Amino acid sequence: MNSERFKGKSFLITGGAGGLGSQIARTVASQGGSVGILDTNEVAITELVSELKAGGVKSAGQVVDVRDSKSVTRAVDELAKVLGSVDVLIAAAGGSLGTPRDLAEISDDDFDLVLDVNVKGTFNSVRAVIPHMKKVGGGSIVTFSSIGGRSASPVTGVPYATAKAAILGLTRRLAKEVGEFNIRVNAIAPGLFLTDRLEGMFSEMSATDQAEVINGIPLGRMPELQECVNPVLFLASDESSYITGTVLDVNGGRLMPN
Ligand SMILES: NC(=O)c1ccc[n+]([C@@H]2O[C@H](COP(=O)([O-])OP(=O)(O)OC[C@H]3O[C@@H](n4cnc5c(N)ncnc54)[C@H](O)[C@@H]3O)[C@@H](O)[C@H]2O)c1
Repeated sequence: MNSERFKGKSFLITGGAGGLGSQIARTVASQGGSVGILDTNEVAITELVSELKAGGVKSAGQVVDVRDSKSVTRAVDELAKVLGSVDVLIAAAGGSLGTPRDLAEISDDDFDLVLDVNVKGTFNSVRAVIPHMKKVGGGSIVTFSSIGGRSASPVTGVPYATAKAAILGLTRRLAKEVGEFNIRVNAIAPGLFLTDRLEGMFSEMSATDQAEVINGIPLGRMPELQECVNPVLFLASDESSYITGTVLDVNGGRLMPN
């Protein structure tokens, strides 16, 4: 591992206190970067930021709901001040957020919640970091789509599919607009990664259902969380310096789009 890979780089991570976000934060920290966490989960932010600081990493957190554009801008500006710059945004806040999968059970509020957090939240976050990235001559933004936004996944419902597909449009259009400022924008589209939250759901499935999930994956196994973190950090880093406006599918071959 290269402990200097992200030396001098400041990462902001929305949803940074969550399963994938916190693993990204720890990896960035172990590779020399500074980390700003934006999340609604105050307890988890405090624990993570204390852990990172105890390891000698420059880090800070802001409790913020990504749906609220003014709060997002304020939080981003505050973190930029503390960390000194914003070089990378990982926009991971999102998910199906406990809403039902089946159409008959989805309320108007469920649809709004999923669209607002995933799509509007991503928009609010990218808009807030662009001025800071321009200031340092460029940057990299990684948005979070999903296999559920790339195909008709049986696991998640219509609102999630709608939101995660919209994020791909946002990613491409934004990449076109900010390329001239040396800002790259790419999406990651993970398959099923068993964070603490999803581990319970998977382990409660019958052995037959678990086998069905795994049999649909050409690589024949469930992934480690780090197997999503590493591709995210590839898109974040200069190793992908000529890649923008794309989506990277990370699903063990379960979906192979043209
Ligand atoms: N884990 C997977 O299998 C998987 C697969 C495909 C895509 N994704 C996407 O990856 C991203 C991260 O997922 P995860 O599995 O780590 O989920 P998670 O639930 O563990 O983390 C999500 C984080 O977002 C935060 N959050 C929720 N609403 C928010 C809001 N309004 N404002 C700010 N923060 C908010 C939560 O507090 C939580 O810490 C999500 O966008 C999800 O849709 C995950």
